Amino acid sequence: MIVRLATEADLPRLPEIELSAVDAFLTTSIPPGPLSTVTPAEGWRDALEHGTLWVIDGQQGTPVGFLGAHRDRGELHILEFDVEVGHQGKGLGRLLLNHVIAWARAEGLSEVTLTTFRSIAWNGPFYGKMGFVEIPDADMPRHLADTLKAERARNLEERCAMWLIL
Ligand SMILES: CC(C)(COP(=O)(O)OP(=O)(O)OC[C@H]1O[C@@H](n2cnc3c(N)ncnc32)[C@H](O)[C@@H]1OP(=O)(O)O)[C@@H](O)C(=O)NCCC(=O)NCCS
Repeated sequence: MIVRLATEADLPRLPEIELSAVDAFLTTSIPPGPLSTVTPAEGWRDALEHGTLWVIDGQQGTPVGFLGAHRDRGELHILEFDVEVGHQGKGLGRLLLNHVIAWARAEGLSEVTLTTFRSIAWNGPFYGKMGFVEIPDADMPRHLADTLKAERARNLEERCAMWLIL
C-alpha cells in the first residue's frame, strides 16, 4: 500500500471514497443524512495545489482512501479523512495518518487539528491512540469553535475538536 500526494487525476475519486466511507456509520446511532453531503472533486483543488492532499492506493493503484488538510502558519487542520468502506479496519487509515503526521513534523509545524465524533471507535478513541487530545475550551482556536458551531447547525452532535501537539 502506497501513501502519496494526490494528483489531478485522483480528484474525481475523492467524492466516491467519501460517500462510501459514510457507510461506516450505518452501525451507529449517528444519522447518515448530514454526513452524506460530500465535498465535490473541485473542492479539493486548493489542498492539491498546496500539497496537503494525500491518497492511499489500493492493490490496483487506485486510491481507496484520502486525507485532505489545510495548512495555516504552524497548524495542519485535517478537513477530511476517509477510507472506502470495504477497505476500512485493515490498518490503512493508521498508515495514512502516520504519514501525514510525520510530514507535518518534518515541515516543522506545531500541531495537527481536527473535529470528530467523540466516542465512535474509529474517530475520537482512534485519534486518542494516535496521541491526539481534546482541546480544552480555554485553548480552543476561533476557527475550530466556528467549525463545531457549524457542525451543530447541521445536526451533528457529540462532536469535539482535538489536536496533536508535535
Ligand atoms: C476513520 C477511517 C479513515 C480510519 O481508516 P481505517 O482504515 O478504517 O483505520 P484502521 O484500520 O487503521 O483502524 C484505525 C482504528 O480504528 C478502529 N476501527 C476501524 N474500523 C473500525 C470498525 N468498523 N469498528 C471498530 N473500530 C474500527 C480500529 O480498531 C483501529 O484501531 P486499533 O487498530 O488500534 O484497534 C475510516 O474508518 C473511515 O473512513 N471511517 C468513516 C469516515 C470517518 O469517520 N472519517 C474520519 C472523520 S474525523
